[in-house]
Amino acid sequence: MAEENNTMVRKTPIFDIYDYVTKLEEQVRLLQTEKNLIKSKNSQMEIEFQKIRKELEEMRKPPLIVGTIQEVINDTAIVKNSNGLEFLVEFEKKQEGIKAGSKVAMTQRSLKVVKLLPETKDPRAKAMEIIEKPDESFETIGGLKKEITELEEAVTLPLTSPEKFEKLGIEAPSGVLLFGETGTGKTLLAKAIANKTNSTFIKITASELVRKYIGEGAELVRDVFKLAEEKKPSIIFIDELDAIGTTRTDDTSGGDREVQRTLMQLLSEMDGFRKRKNIAIIAATNRIDVIDSALLRPGRFDRMVEVPLPDVNEREEIFAIHSALMSLQNVNLRELAELTESSSGAEIKAICMEAGILALREETDFISQEHFIQAIEKVIGKEEEENEDKMFS
Ligand SMILES: Nc1ncnc2c1ncn2[C@@H]1O[C@H](COP(=O)(O)OP(=O)(O)OP(=O)(O)O)[C@@H](O)[C@H]1O
Ligand SMILES: [Mg+2]
Repeated sequence: MAEENNTMVRKTPIFDIYDYVTKLEEQVRLLQTEKNLIKSKNSQMEIEFQKIRKELEEMRKPPLIVGTIQEVINDTAIVKNSNGLEFLVEFEKKQEGIKAGSKVAMTQRSLKVVKLLPETKDPRAKAMEIIEKPDESFETIGGLKKEITELEEAVTLPLTSPEKFEKLGIEAPSGVLLFGETGTGKTLLAKAIANKTNSTFIKITASELVRKYIGEGAELVRDVFKLAEEKKPSIIFIDELDAIGTTRTDDTSGGDREVQRTLMQLLSEMDGFRKRKNIAIIAATNRIDVIDSALLRPGRFDRMVEVPLPDVNEREEIFAIHSALMSLQNVNLRELAELTESSSGAEIKAICMEAGILALREETDFISQEHFIQAIEKVIGKEEEENEDKMFS
């Protein structure tokens, strides 16, 4: 048996073994390369894994809270959050440029200041429309004669000659509330009176104040009164007053509290307002039915002026105003006024513009009665469709 084995070994040629070893070595090298490849892939995966894990951790973190610095005291600061609560907080690391009024981001649990937010340009400018002297004059208003007179009494005199009231020992009217349907000319009236009295027109829209500038409503109200003082004579115009001035309910959900704080600020500004001279305050609403009676008390909006839809004569006047610069041919404004019962001034303006566009499309040089009649159908027809949609939705 042993002999047999010996003969077998002896039978295997040397070069065969050599060949075999070379092959094995080749295989080892191949496997080595593969191992290296897998190793490098593995470390790549590890990096990827860490990255995703970090991302996941970031995602799991609660959002940061935004607050306004009230005061910096050494390594701490007093911060007010949007609910009006004040906290004494620490900095994660001291940030350059943090001062009273800076907006910062804080962690939810520990309220550590982690970020200084960039300053908004002029926070007052974004929420207000400021016109040094509006272009709209009384001549651009059709009808509303009685309303103009009422406004003049309540606004012009106290604005331009407050001393007359002082001399007589009577108090000037405080605020005027314009109410009426949409498009009847409330904003137009307020602008025209600013034009007449050479006043700065400062407009804020109450609904935006509470919806867009959450947490800043009350502060913005304060800013408006401050700005009015700087720019006097000035008229503060608060549009859509109902958005903050609705009868208060007991519901104190977050949104409501915001509205209430804004309203409270307005009331307190108005109460301190009597002493201010050369500033008038006008508000507008188309929901007089829901206005809080606290706003209508003496010293606040104690003058109410209804701005009604125009009657036929007034509609004719409004047609004349808005078509004054148009090239008309055989246009009977009286007939147009008769065809537009219960249309507002804004609708009449839209009709005039539409008639112009129709003529443009037909490439005619003049605007005819037919253009106007088609425009009325288009503008009023659209309104009716919208109303029907509202009724069925
Ligand atoms: N009596 C009017 N005379 C001339 N133009 C008018 C008249 N009423 C409204 N208009 C036109 O319609 C436009 C819109 O009117 P305005 O914005 O003053 O209405 P409003 O009563 O403030 O409406 P809203 O309640 O929707 O704010 C005005 O810019 C003006 O061009
Ligand atoms: Mg308006």
